[in-house]
Amino acid sequence: MLNILSPSILAADFKNLEHDIKAAESGGAKWLHIDVMDGMFVPAISFGMCVQESIRPCTDMFFDTHLMIMDPIRYIRKFAELGSNGITVHEEACPDVRAALKMIRDCGCRAGLSINPGTPVEKLESHLEDVDMILMMSVEPGSGGQKYLPQSTDRIRQVSRMIKTSGRSIDLEVDGGIRLSNVKEVLDAGANVIVAGSAVFHGDIKANTEDFVRILNGE
Ligand code: DX5
Ligand code: ZN
Repeated sequence: MLNILSPSILAADFKNLEHDIKAAESGGAKWLHIDVMDGMFVPAISFGMCVQESIRPCTDMFFDTHLMIMDPIRYIRKFAELGSNGITVHEEACPDVRAALKMIRDCGCRAGLSINPGTPVEKLESHLEDVDMILMMSVEPGSGGQKYLPQSTDRIRQVSRMIKTSGRSIDLEVDGGIRLSNVKEVLDAGANVIVAGSAVFHGDIKANTEDFVRILNGE
């Protein structure tokens, strides 16, 4: 699978979102990670539909929408209409995981399923045929700038093996605490989509993006 960087705008400067998005794009990022939080599934409230709608005209990047919200099926169609290319829901937040994943695909988006650090990876097993991507949290979801949980590496390895055994083409995304210093460890464990928030948007956004892309391209 192709390695992809998905910079998370949660760490961007919200008064200059367009500028920050374009800086990441000019550094070579093809995806944009959009973290939606509802104050229920996670304590924080980030942003929602209006923000995604406002930034959609700024760029043609792939919108990788990460819904950290309870019962997300209620909002899938809306986010699809507002330009998501992929929508990821949490296993822990869905009363009916299969129905949510089906709804994402029916809306024309790539379907992602995420699990928190404390959720057994076996929970993913029965959903492999319904997903295009698995998103493994490597921090407790809810805020940017946290430290990568070291036990994530083993969990990524397990899920990577699970995907290989299934013979399906499923992207493996990892989210939380990834920086230039540990991204290689995450890639080596089998991830191919890397979310980075603070490590991209704090400091020189274009240069940070270029540094990540270089590592992801194996240079
Ligand atoms: C955490 C979010 C992440 C976060 C990553 O709940 O899902 O996408 O923005 O931020 P960093 O890379 O700063 O850990
Ligand atoms: Zn995220």
